[in-house]
Amino acid sequence: MVECSYRLVVTRKKEQQWDFWFLLPIYPYQQRQTLREEVICDRIWIFEQPHGFLYAIVTIRMTVVKLKQGGLLVYCPIAPTKECIKLVRELETDHGEVKYIIHSTGSGLEHKIFVGPFARYFSSAQVWCVPNQWSFPINLPLPWLGFPCKRTNILPLDWHKAPFADEFEYHIVDIKLSAGSFVELALFHCCSQTLLVTDAIVQVPSQPPAIIELDPFPLLFHARETALDNLENNQANRLKGWQRICLFALYFRPSMIDTTPLKQLFKEAKQAPDRSFTNYLGFFPFRWQSNWLKSFEAIVDQEIPLVAPILQNIILPQDVIEARNWVNKISKWEIEQIIPAHFKAPIQTTSEEFTQAFNFLETNNCDQKKYPSGKEQIFRQDSCFIKKLASFFVRLNIAKPSPLKE
Ligand SMILES: [Fe+2]
Repeated sequence: MVECSYRLVVTRKKEQQWDFWFLLPIYPYQQRQTLREEVICDRIWIFEQPHGFLYAIVTIRMTVVKLKQGGLLVYCPIAPTKECIKLVRELETDHGEVKYIIHSTGSGLEHKIFVGPFARYFSSAQVWCVPNQWSFPINLPLPWLGFPCKRTNILPLDWHKAPFADEFEYHIVDIKLSAGSFVELALFHCCSQTLLVTDAIVQVPSQPPAIIELDPFPLLFHARETALDNLENNQANRLKGWQRICLFALYFRPSMIDTTPLKQLFKEAKQAPDRSFTNYLGFFPFRWQSNWLKSFEAIVDQEIPLVAPILQNIILPQDVIEARNWVNKISKWEIEQIIPAHFKAPIQTTSEEFTQAFNFLETNNCDQKKYPSGKEQIFRQDSCFIKKLASFFVRLNIAKPSPLKE
């Protein structure tokens, strides 16, 4: 039997500590590693940390762009651990200080929670937020979330009026929901033809990202078939775990998964090799069907980037015209790459492919399938749980029925 000791080798460093983890208690809680990668030499860098629920851990990303006049623009800050701040300071030494910090969503708490604490490390930077800010479950004003009052501003709807308009254009989508708005900023760095988005677009990488592999526990947790497995930390098992994590993160409940009967669940938990709190006391309620990998193959590394099923089925159908207008405006830019806040980055793509990703917004899109038919079918089948969720919200009167055809 292989000893389940891989967790012990993960180094716990003080500089990776995120002190306010309790404000949004999600994995990896107070211990967050950061990796920096240069995307364009001396121009664009991405900073990545792991994050997620129930060990469905994906990447959360901040992007830093060097300004023509010197200084840095930070899009979508991540947890300002000492390690993260040190990596930004290194860029400041070479390229000038952080001038602008951009908070790119209206409600995305997993992004908003970091902006105030991050801004406090850069006391001369201006903070720019998209309009219609709100928070859930309690709608707290920005200063209560740590945003510095005197230097926090709301982005004007017209990008020409922004202080960085000499280098960046942007368009904001604002979809009214019952509690507030889904707002997202698409920021285009003209000279590198790079589009920065937050949650609107993703591309699923075939391999687990480096930041996720630093702590393989979540990958091995999900690679198991039953609670009785005690898997070796090898590349094949980490990959299997990653493939399943992607399905959980995108669909919440993919179609090719069943649950363990209750009696069996307790029986297996009792016999599980690891009954620690970290391993949920040995409980493992999932049973993957034999052909589950087809679900991952339907979405991995697709040429056309993916709009997450929750956006396709619940959020964007709430205002199709607003969403379409936003996509049409963005499609005028000559996009070469997209850097989103989750999954793979950069995505090498074009404006045409970006537009195609949103084909589902067309009410008559029967001839414009995004994927070859088999993959499209699996994608739709896997989205069923989210569609049911959408119908549930309609019944509760907190969402409108989708005007889009199946
Ligand atoms: Fe997000």
